[in-house]
Amino acid sequence: MITQREYKKRRDLLVKKLSNNSVAVIFSSEHTTRSHDTQHPFRQDSNFYYLSGFKEESAALVFIKTKTFTKSVLFVQKKDKTLELWTGKRLGEKEAKKRFLVDEVYLSEDFEKKFKEFLKEKKNIYFETNSKKSAAKKVLKLTKAIKTKHDIVPLVQKMRLIKSAAEIELIKESIAITAKAHHRAMKIDKKGKYEYQLQAEIEHEFKVNAAYSDAYTSIVACGNSANTLHYIKNDQPLVEGELILIDAGCEHNYYASDITRTIPVNGRYTEAQKELYNLVLNTQLRIIKMIKPEVKRSHLQKVAQKLLTKGMVELGILKGEYKKLIKQQKHKKYYPHGIGHWMGIDVHDPAPYKDAKEREIALKKGMVLTIEPGLYIDKNDISVPKKYRGIGIRIEDDILVTKDGCENLSLCIAKTVEEIEALSFKF
Ligand code: GLY
Ligand code: MN
Ligand code: MN
Repeated sequence: MITQREYKKRRDLLVKKLSNNSVAVIFSSEHTTRSHDTQHPFRQDSNFYYLSGFKEESAALVFIKTKTFTKSVLFVQKKDKTLELWTGKRLGEKEAKKRFLVDEVYLSEDFEKKFKEFLKEKKNIYFETNSKKSAAKKVLKLTKAIKTKHDIVPLVQKMRLIKSAAEIELIKESIAITAKAHHRAMKIDKKGKYEYQLQAEIEHEFKVNAAYSDAYTSIVACGNSANTLHYIKNDQPLVEGELILIDAGCEHNYYASDITRTIPVNGRYTEAQKELYNLVLNTQLRIIKMIKPEVKRSHLQKVAQKLLTKGMVELGILKGEYKKLIKQQKHKKYYPHGIGHWMGIDVHDPAPYKDAKEREIALKKGMVLTIEPGLYIDKNDISVPKKYRGIGIRIEDDILVTKDGCENLSLCIAKTVEEIEALSFKF
């Protein structure tokens, strides 16, 4: 659990980064329409949540900083019996003042009036300059007279790069639920089922274990569908003898997990599937072993490319000398994506990958990233031995960088051929 003290600490850190003589504002998410008059479930804006832990809409956080003082202000929705009957309870001004360690709380309906007061004689305004939120766009109009405009988003995103102990606990909880979901997918009888039915089994496990939502739309891709990297249609039958690439992770208490396992429909890998699977697996294990502070992701990617390309030459998928093949980017046909990404409140946590001087940021203690090499061989690729065609494999784990190495946070999820076959339902 993230304490109110921790949220306050984050806000204080953000305020330290602001110039004197400034006002900063960040807004909650806004509702998005699903169709006509139905809406998507509300999900708080990640940066706003990171700074407040507040899940309601129509809210704003404002910071005022002068040479002599700083002030934090939260705007919340007014209590309203009729509206609460339809859309749910609101915390209200009084409770918000008790709960959140901010200096002042006001009602959202008074935002414009108060904000104009805060802006008086200020030189700098920090807000979400590239946001689609209507509230952020309005700020642009209200601050016409202020010359120096800054984007607040990168400041918060940078803070999200290193996870606190409490955040790591939440990520672990999220992964523990996702582990159950992947194991359920392995264990159930998949005969005659469709991809979306397997998806339902996975997401059932998310919800019954109190993860309200997925962290991203689950990918359940059987056979050649796995070669579409962001396959989310999930509408094809599970075919005996093929593999299913399952890239699915829940969001629990606003923290993501992002796990991929590639498992056999009938519970047993064929020899050809095993060969490809073990190439991806051995690459993934080697890369995870390399993770420690000061290592760069680009280096991990280079090693992954090398190992996968060498392996593909050995299997006859690529022909030639592996160094030359890499130079010619031939491997990209079969391994077209990166080695992994930051993960946290968002599955692709938008923390920076480069510093202010455009230099790559090296790994540091407290960062969480995915490691997810893969190989994707299209069913119509006649340049590849027939036995490998129509197979797509990715193996993805969530890794915490520690003081002198790393911890695979998803180590508990079955991953070797033997482990997966032992758990799987066979027919
Ligand atoms: N689930 C999306 C990804 O692995 O990046
Ligand atoms: Mn990922
Ligand atoms: Mn994934």
